[in-house]
Amino acid sequence: MSIDQHTEIDQDKLMQFVFRAVGEVGATLNAALVVMGDKLGLYQALAEAGPVTPDQLAARTGTAERYVREWLNAQAAGDFVTYEPETGRYLLPPEQAMALTDASSPAYLPGFFQLALGSVIDSPRIMEAARSGAGFGWHEHGTDVLDGCERFFRPGYNANLISQWLPALDGVTGKLERGALVADVGCGHGSSTILMAQAFPASAFVGTDYHDGSVKTARRRAGDAAVGDRVRFETAAASAYAGDGYDLVTMFDCLHDMGDPLGAARHVRGSLKPDGTWMIVEPYAEDRVEGNLNPVGRAYYAFSTLLCTPASLSQEVGLALGAQAGEARIKDVVTAAGFTRFRRAAQTPFNLVFEARP
Ligand SMILES: C[S@@+](CC[C@H](N)C(=O)[O-])C[C@H]1O[C@@H](n2cnc3c(N)ncnc32)[C@H](O)[C@@H]1O
Repeated sequence: MSIDQHTEIDQDKLMQFVFRAVGEVGATLNAALVVMGDKLGLYQALAEAGPVTPDQLAARTGTAERYVREWLNAQAAGDFVTYEPETGRYLLPPEQAMALTDASSPAYLPGFFQLALGSVIDSPRIMEAARSGAGFGWHEHGTDVLDGCERFFRPGYNANLISQWLPALDGVTGKLERGALVADVGCGHGSSTILMAQAFPASAFVGTDYHDGSVKTARRRAGDAAVGDRVRFETAAASAYAGDGYDLVTMFDCLHDMGDPLGAARHVRGSLKPDGTWMIVEPYAEDRVEGNLNPVGRAYYAFSTLLCTPASLSQEVGLALGAQAGEARIKDVVTAAGFTRFRRAAQTPFNLVFEARP
């Protein structure tokens, strides 16, 4: 629309939008400040110390007071910390302390911000790709995307995978307890694979991902978690991982990232036992765009623009389902591959969990 003398501008609406944008610019910059607070140990020190002055926080963290003071004021303006004008001290409230420092909490946030910041850092490459229609592979991203992804998803898996999602699948937990063969496809740094291996010592797990660097990290993580006896990680595309006779194949937040999800689905079908199960975890989404026009959908559409869609377009076929594909679209892919049973087994505000059976 071009603005000419015939267009009525509502000045109140214009100023409301401008002030909303001020908040959004602050939020955009805050992604860098949260990652800074996380990596410099500022949140951790605030959580441990109680109310502190900037120079006390700087001394505790080995950082420069002038930077810390400015960072604290930005955090206070955004309600991440509270400020006591009478004493000049800053405090991290207990809820913020949990969300920003407790990696075992389902509400743990630093990975979310690290993933967002990493996506923004890599965005000039995505802008180039958007001109040409080229893709941009998962393996081409920097450390903040790869580590941020691991740290973003892990709290949700810790909170739900063993206690809610696997029990929601028909007969799967019993098989895992007795001893099952499991492939975790598109496993990234292996959080989900390691978590399952810790919970089900009688089962054997193979984590696969097409990105060699992620597979190497996953191997290190398995070593650190001392589950190397029951977990193996291999570099392989989802349409070509080795082995068959799997009781369970899992895909966590990766089917929509694949260029050829149908090819991958056919491979899963061929690798499963006749009574096996394919568990597909996808970002929460409604089937229609208008159902996703909310804060969660906004974050996911943004990640989808910067990460998921380019990742799929970088591979053969380039179907580009997008992170907000929704149940109906996923069901199309799964049933086209020959699966006869498909259902939504569980959900959270952030995830959909599907069960597909041959
Ligand atoms: C959003 S990450 C999720 C990683 C991991 N499942 C997790 O939940 O932390 C998507 C993963 O899919 C992998 N991936 C993308 N396309 C793939 C393909 N065609 N075959 C195997 N892995 C693929 C990427 O390398 C990346 O590790």
